[in-house]
Amino acid sequence: MADIALFDRDAVLAAVSPAAAIELVRDGFVRYASGEWAMPPKVYLDAPPNGDFRAMPARGGGLAILKWVTSFPHNSARGLPVVDGAIFVSDAESGAMRAVVNAQAVTALRTGAVAAVAAQELAREDARTVGIVGCGVHGSWAARCLAAAEYGPGVCYDPDPERAGALAGELGWEAGVLDDVLECDVVTCVTPGDEPVVRASDLHAGMHLSMLGADAAGKAEAEIDAVTRCALFCDEWEQASHGGELTGAIRAGRVKREDVTELGAVMTGAAPGRPSDDAVTLFDSTGLAIQDLAICHALLEGATGGGPHRTVAL
Ligand SMILES: NC(=O)c1ccc[n+]([C@@H]2O[C@H](COP(=O)([O-])OP(=O)(O)OC[C@H]3O[C@@H](n4cnc5c(N)ncnc54)[C@H](O)[C@@H]3O)[C@@H](O)[C@H]2O)c1
Repeated sequence: MADIALFDRDAVLAAVSPAAAIELVRDGFVRYASGEWAMPPKVYLDAPPNGDFRAMPARGGGLAILKWVTSFPHNSARGLPVVDGAIFVSDAESGAMRAVVNAQAVTALRTGAVAAVAAQELAREDARTVGIVGCGVHGSWAARCLAAAEYGPGVCYDPDPERAGALAGELGWEAGVLDDVLECDVVTCVTPGDEPVVRASDLHAGMHLSMLGADAAGKAEAEIDAVTRCALFCDEWEQASHGGELTGAIRAGRVKREDVTELGAVMTGAAPGRPSDDAVTLFDSTGLAIQDLAICHALLEGATGGGPHRTVAL
């Protein structure tokens, strides 16, 4: 077997900036929506009572990946990461293994990046202020990517005031209460998804919501009554209908396939985006392997400068 590149967390973050991640993820959505890249649905392996494992394959641009990754939503309380795992990268033409990549860093970048891409595609043209609900690992990366996309100033809320304060301090934003956050133009929720943080009464004309925390069945960050009042978008229908923010409303028979537009279709011009300046748009991110694939391309091609990495012969 040929030498395999190993990209640890630092190598990934050194190679791909938030601004680069936004462009890479944007490109991945367009390639998938236009049929160039392939992605079977992710497979969930429940690990009760603490979380689940996911196997996430994708192929495109000469590479094939399998991401093996966790969501253990309450791991932070025991000092462990919520998301952990690795991405195995192969050459799609020969089948040869090319790399093993730290999944924490790739997930952080591509999850943050999709919050920025969704805002660019769906928020009002004049949207600027950002509200972050949940300032843990992925809420912080969403904020960094939104800032890199020139959104802000922002307000950060977390029941742990140290987390909200640290993120606000890093970006020159403010920490605030949930009501302050929900008044912003672009609101991004990245909580464990145990309880609704957005109610129907919180919606205001022209708002954009990105819901990132509810990425498996049984998790939700908005009341169903709030979801049904929004113009609805998702990253991928199969995943969103079974394991995302929209799942509760779909199971209740209050949202149907024709009510939801995939973000990639908006980006290729196949479907309209925001229906009006006054509409409230809601984007359900469940997390896609094509986002990971897009970041892996940059790592292997050194397209963004390349990061320091090691090689091993397995
Ligand atoms: N959509 C995606 O692609 C994607 C990617 C990665 C992670 N996730 C999901 O995002 C969620 C968060 O992951 P993480 O790694 O950032 O976890 P984390 O533990 O680092 O952060 C979660 C934060 O939410 C805060 N929080 C808890 N309840 C809250 C509430 N009611 N209101 C506001 N904040 C609250 C916590 O204090 C914590 O700071 C998980 O459910 C994870 O599965 C989704």
